[in-house]
Amino acid sequence: MEELKQDSGLNTESIIHKPVMLQEVLSFFVRIENPAPLVLDCTLGAGGHAQAILEASPAASYIGIDADPEALERSARRLSAFSDRLTLREGFFDELLLDLSESAKAAKDFRKPDFILFDLGLSSHQYLGSGRGFSFSADESLDMRLSPRLEDTAADIVNRLPEDKLADLIFKYGEERYSRRIARAIGEARRNAPIRSSAFLASLIAKAVPPAYRHGRIHPATRSFQAIRIVVNGELEREERALVLAANLLAPGGILVVIAFHSLEDRISKRFCREYGKIRGFEELCRSPLVPSQEECEANPAARSAKLRALRAPLSLRAPGTQKAPGILNASLVLKAPL
Ligand SMILES: C[S@@+](CC[C@H](N)C(=O)[O-])C[C@H]1O[C@@H](n2cnc3c(N)ncnc32)[C@H](O)[C@@H]1O
Repeated sequence: MEELKQDSGLNTESIIHKPVMLQEVLSFFVRIENPAPLVLDCTLGAGGHAQAILEASPAASYIGIDADPEALERSARRLSAFSDRLTLREGFFDELLLDLSESAKAAKDFRKPDFILFDLGLSSHQYLGSGRGFSFSADESLDMRLSPRLEDTAADIVNRLPEDKLADLIFKYGEERYSRRIARAIGEARRNAPIRSSAFLASLIAKAVPPAYRHGRIHPATRSFQAIRIVVNGELEREERALVLAANLLAPGGILVVIAFHSLEDRISKRFCREYGKIRGFEELCRSPLVPSQEECEANPAARSAKLRALRAPLSLRAPGTQKAPGILNASLVLKAPL
């Protein structure tokens, strides 16, 4: 059995997470007319976007959400100078947005956010310093949970699921063409002993794929790791639910910005902006997604796959087919098919 490490050995304070497409995010933020806006950051992470927005707008109030308590602790330290304008909430954004939506329905004086940000995925701290096996380049415990409140770890998924189900998940959520071979290799390995380390899983995957793929542009385990992480955290379902809830929560004229990092995430955000936004009278602020500049990609390779989409809520919000202001809508009531 491989030796497991909970601690990557890195000093996590020395890791720097650069906020992705910061100038573009700020360029949408300055379009908010309210001089004392309320910002809802659904993915606070390392607090990079938060710091820049709080500095740019001395009258802004900020709510920061993150599922990862370690991320919240770190950003609380970073943002301590703004603590009088900052509220931190630990939890998954879809669940907290549902709570907020219920409060909005219940309280007449509920303050709706003027600006909502989703910067999806993980921060560099989680990849490089969390010890939770998000990266295939470190030998860490195969955990991959954003929140310790989740029950099933990546090791549970990898060791428990039948091979065919595992192959389906790796194909669906990783778009991995060698999913069957990979699932077979996992099945064989776990017959000897449970798979518990990220490095062991990565080497297993690398050996399972053809040599040309093994030495390709990306690490051969990239797509499988993405798939397992998505399953562990229910990422796509949460994104789908959260975007609808967030849009419904926006103040009239408010702006919603979503930054996605892989095609599955962006597909949801694209459909949401096109279909849901249009039905509800939202304005799509960029017809094609914005992508980071070449300079940004050179300075921060983690930004290179980012796609930013933005919507502005109408000044008076109407539910489709009704003349009244809407309550919280369910996406499936509005869209022909789920996102
Ligand atoms: C890319 S980082 C955000 C970085 C941040 N914008 C910054 O500039 O430092 C994404 C963060 O969102 C959190 N996250 C991802 N999915 C989430 C979810 N469904 N609910 C709550 N937090 C989530 C992750 O834990 C991570 O800390």
